[in-house]
Amino acid sequence: MEKPAITDHEIHPLIAQRWSPRAFDSKLVETEKLAQLFEAARWASSCFNDQPWTFIVATKDDKVNYQKMLDCLVPANVVWAQAAPVLGLVVAQKTFKHNGKPNAWGEYDAGQAAATLVLQATALNLVAHQMGGFDAATAIATFNIPETARPVAAIAIGYAGETKNLPSDLQERENAPRERHPLSSFVFTGAWGNSAPFV
Ligand SMILES: Cc1cc2nc3c(=O)[nH]c(=O)nc-3n(C[C@H](O)[C@H](O)[C@H](O)COP(=O)(O)O)c2cc1C
Repeated sequence: MEKPAITDHEIHPLIAQRWSPRAFDSKLVETEKLAQLFEAARWASSCFNDQPWTFIVATKDDKVNYQKMLDCLVPANVVWAQAAPVLGLVVAQKTFKHNGKPNAWGEYDAGQAAATLVLQATALNLVAHQMGGFDAATAIATFNIPETARPVAAIAIGYAGETKNLPSDLQERENAPRERHPLSSFVFTGAWGNSAPFV
């Protein structure tokens, strides 16, 4: 299923095409494509070029590690994410590599890397669905994530599947229109709350 963004202004088709489906096909993701996803993430920009991101990834054919990843997700996400052939965690470093000081942009940069990965997934005809619904303490303990890092999101990746295979409540959400706040509500000029004239 495709669900392109209905935009007020023209945007790149890749951005319009990306969305977060819950229906995944059982087809595994080719290893070269997997590598391409993380190559894309690798080239995201970051403060001091610190690259403060780490991805912990499990593919479905690696049953033990896949189950460990699934066990980190909240039950509401397990319902649909268990069909995804690839599950991962996005982890942000808390400190800079060059001086060990707190990196206030670590999570911002990890998010940029994840966003870049998701767009690359879209370009490869894959889908990706990010999740805040996971248990960070479980993830930290399960994967020995050090004190210097924080798991910020989980992500399910794979090929789009059939919506009809989802439970009915999720089918409804899958078919619901995609909505966004208007540009005027978040693009300001001069002072907070003053919409920029071009929006
Ligand atoms: C950081 C983050 C956390 C999210 N957490 C969840 C989640 O736990 N479960 C879920 O079903 N979707 C989750 N989503 C997906 C959002 O609900 C989705 O991106 C949003 O509704 C916009 O839809 P779109 O991605 O299809 O444009 C999350 C997305 C992001 C970026």
